[in-house]
Amino acid sequence: MLKLTNVNTKIGGFHAIHDVSLEIKQGEFVALLGGNGAGKTTLFRTIAGILNPISGTIEFKGKEIHRKPAHKIVALGLSLCPEGRQLFPQLPVYKNLLLGAYHRKDKKGINETLEEVYELFPILKERRKQLAGTFSGGEQQMLAIARALMSKPDLLLLDEPSMGLAPQLVDSIAEVISNLNKKGMTIFLSEQNAQIALMITQRGYVLENGHLVLEGSSRDLLNNEKVKKAYLGT
Ligand SMILES: Nc1ncnc2c1ncn2[C@@H]1O[C@H](COP(=O)(O)OP(=O)(O)OP(=O)(O)O)[C@@H](O)[C@H]1O
Ligand SMILES: [Mg+2]
Repeated sequence: MLKLTNVNTKIGGFHAIHDVSLEIKQGEFVALLGGNGAGKTTLFRTIAGILNPISGTIEFKGKEIHRKPAHKIVALGLSLCPEGRQLFPQLPVYKNLLLGAYHRKDKKGINETLEEVYELFPILKERRKQLAGTFSGGEQQMLAIARALMSKPDLLLLDEPSMGLAPQLVDSIAEVISNLNKKGMTIFLSEQNAQIALMITQRGYVLENGHLVLEGSSRDLLNNEKVKKAYLGT
């Protein structure tokens, strides 16, 4: 479904992504692990078309997308739930959600997706008129994921959804994401929290200083000495 071949990205003159090649198949749930500044966000922004790679190719569903603008990539079925949520705090919940469907024109379809999203996150329906900025951190993360789903993506990129959340909330977000994958959604999840990411994903990649340095099944990575030392604190 997604294939990167020797992707390099510069940001503000800094060479942040080096020769990254990876592949994600339909239905998979894959982790991207890496510490602060490893390049996770830069890689996701490159895939989503917010940044252009300086070289390499990115294919999504068999089409080259690395020269396409972000809105075209969303329309093809690839949605990024960005780091730090990036909601519109002064807008009510439902308007934030509708912004996730901004490229869609089928009003009926949008309303159907909205109902599906409300079913997944009942709290968003109950509080659809509440301003997003008044939501708690966990609620804002749910809203950010829900907004990303409004485009009806085939592939969902989630950039550090656990960031800044209490352990209990991290667990409930993890459950929501796992359920999305069980229902068939392909998910690429970036996390510094390797423990939680490797518990819920099938396999993973480790990014260090913009280089992919390890890949394997999540079970193998959980037991990998290097991963244990660097990312699991054991
Ligand atoms: N606008 C910029 N100008 C220069 N360097 C940048 C810019 N944005 C990011 N970088 C650098 O690129 C590298 C990768 O940053 P990135 O945000 O992708 O890392 P990350 O893995 O997402 O980290 P975190 O887990 O802290 O979110 C870092 O060294 C960062 O300082
Ligand atoms: Mg980041």
